Amino acid sequence: MHPISLLYTALLLLVTTTTAATFPAINLDTATHRPTSTNTTVSGLTITLYNNIRFAQPPTGPRRFRKPQTPPPHQSGIQDGRHRLFSSDCVSTAPASVPFPELNGTTWGQEDCLFLNVWVPEGVRPGDGVPVVHWLYGSAMGLYGWASSTHEDMDANVGLHDGLAALRWTRKYISRFGGNPDDITAMGESAGAAMITLMLVAEEGKIFLPFQKAFISSPAMLPRRNVTTRRENVYKQVLKSANCTSLDCLRHTSPRTLAAANKHLLSDMPSGSGGGTFGPGIGLGPFPDGEYITDASMVLFRHGKFNPQVRAVIVGNTADEGLATTPDIRSPAEFAKLVRMALPGANDSSVQTIREMYPYPDSWIDRVAQDWTTDSTHACNARAIARAYAEKAQRYVFSVPPATHFLDINYFFFKDNTSTPVVNVSLAHQFQSELLSFLHQPAGKGSAKWPLYGDTAKTANVTANGLPTTKDPWATRPKCEKILRIIEDTATGA
Ligand SMILES: *[C@@H]1O[C@H](CO)[C@@H](O)[C@H](O)[C@H]1NC(C)=O
Ligand SMILES: *[C@@H]1O[C@H](CO)[C@@H](O)[C@H](O)[C@H]1NC(C)=O
Ligand SMILES: *[C@@H]1O[C@H](CO)[C@@H](O)[C@H](O)[C@H]1NC(C)=O
Ligand SMILES: *[C@@H]1O[C@H](CO)[C@@H](O)[C@H](O)[C@H]1NC(C)=O
Ligand SMILES: *[C@@H]1O[C@H](CO)[C@@H](O)[C@H](O)[C@H]1NC(C)=O
Ligand SMILES: *[C@@H]1O[C@H](CO)[C@@H](O)[C@H](O)[C@H]1NC(C)=O
Ligand SMILES: *[C@@H]1O[C@H](CO)[C@@H](O)[C@H](O)[C@H]1NC(C)=O
Ligand SMILES: *[C@@H]1O[C@H](CO)[C@@H](O)[C@H](O)[C@H]1NC(C)=O
Repeated sequence: MHPISLLYTALLLLVTTTTAATFPAINLDTATHRPTSTNTTVSGLTITLYNNIRFAQPPTGPRRFRKPQTPPPHQSGIQDGRHRLFSSDCVSTAPASVPFPELNGTTWGQEDCLFLNVWVPEGVRPGDGVPVVHWLYGSAMGLYGWASSTHEDMDANVGLHDGLAALRWTRKYISRFGGNPDDITAMGESAGAAMITLMLVAEEGKIFLPFQKAFISSPAMLPRRNVTTRRENVYKQVLKSANCTSLDCLRHTSPRTLAAANKHLLSDMPSGSGGGTFGPGIGLGPFPDGEYITDASMVLFRHGKFNPQVRAVIVGNTADEGLATTPDIRSPAEFAKLVRMALPGANDSSVQTIREMYPYPDSWIDRVAQDWTTDSTHACNARAIARAYAEKAQRYVFSVPPATHFLDINYFFFKDNTSTPVVNVSLAHQFQSELLSFLHQPAGKGSAKWPLYGDTAKTANVTANGLPTTKDPWATRPKCEKILRIIEDTATGA
């Protein structure tokens, strides 16, 4: 997985080239790139990869904990992206507990990681203006993107600004590859989806968005409103883990020490966040900084403070997001503690209100905790986005058992049943055709077949047997409304 990937899609019908594809070198002002490798997909389409394109200055040394600086450095000669072919990932740690079998418990990546990749199908030429997908990857986010203090000369939410810089690069340069800068879909899952969600409410919806459509899958983010104090505590833990007492020390410490500190924070320290982020306290993830992001996205969407420029949105979540992503909870007291990790000021009656949203006995308290994670960290974010964009939005709930976080990925990106196992191949193809139809709607009317969300809160229910339309359960059950009411009271400390 590379840090930011651009999957570049062409309308398959337009692709008529029968001769061997040739892909030109592309001048990107600060560098010229030629293809790194060319492959054929399972459906027989030839696709080339322009790998490891820098979109900003390396965020190292004095640029640590700063918004990305552009333009990227000048590189002479023709770049083929092979250098660092498999090593341009950002510094990443997957804690032992995360449900990713091959990644959990490992650390990899490098600090100099502001690269993106462009995939171009054969036959696409500059001027063709084909639709573009810009994929924002999701994963455990570390100190590089999210540590900051209001008392220090450092920027907040650097990771979010990195993501935006990548999208701005796409808007500026994708036409040189044959893409349409006015037809870009930002697509992401989990943390990547949370980044897109935050872009929609950045400056309360007033920024110029470098994309026109959004595909938001399982946005993973707790409803945080004011973490001013808790953010300082995280920063102090970052200093301590790096054996530093000042920002200057953090900026001068070796990449190896910083990576070790990051691993320690994400892997060894108990996460206090209750889902959605890893690391101590509120965890290392995006948060309202009072300027760029002024409040919890759920609250901003509810009050109309979101970006109107978006032409179409698909937003989905799995039915049981919390199933493998919630800590083991064994008693009502532990459940209350979990709730207060997110809402430290929640009084007993609010905790009780939350407990009563889930009609299970105390012997099923783990199930209650999982459902709370599903709602507070994912589904109510998805509902808030769909409700806000209403006539521009389409929604899905992924219900194929066990309907855990990330399970839907295999359906959008289905290749074969070994690398992307699914229960029903024709369902995966149907899901992919919905996605393609969304990407190819030039007027931004959304996917051709799924209903618009509208006032009636229609959703596609993705089941093993097909995709019937139903009513969004997070619109009919009052859970998201109750959660919103509770967090809107500043006393809960969300
Ligand atoms: C192209 O195929 C080769 C061989 O299967 C593989 O190693 C490489 O990762 C592929 N490259 C891309 C960009 O998919
Ligand atoms: C990854 O998770 C599995 C299943 O929970 C666990 O058995 C294994 O020890 C973990 N791997 C590492 C390296 O922590
Ligand atoms: C956030 O909390 C801090 C400290 O608890 C407080 O000083 C500040 O006024 C709060 N900000 C807002 C916008 O409520
Ligand atoms: C910080 O210092 C302690 C004690 O010397 C050491 O064990 C630890 O590895 C150091 N941390 C880092 C990130 O280098
Ligand atoms: C795909 O593989 C999984 C196991 O890896 C299996 O359960 C499933 O039935 C397979 N799906 C199809 C459509 O063959
Ligand atoms: C697989 O999904 C398709 C819808 O894409 C549905 O028509 C078919 O009945 C499903 N197969 C089974 C065995 O449920
Ligand atoms: C989706 O379909 C599954 C399987 O039929 C069902 O259990 C679930 O209740 C449905 N969800 C919604 C929101 O209708
Ligand atoms: C508990 O908190 C809720 C929501 O923050 C508030 O409406 C309610 O008045 C509080 N109850 C008591 C007894 O303080």
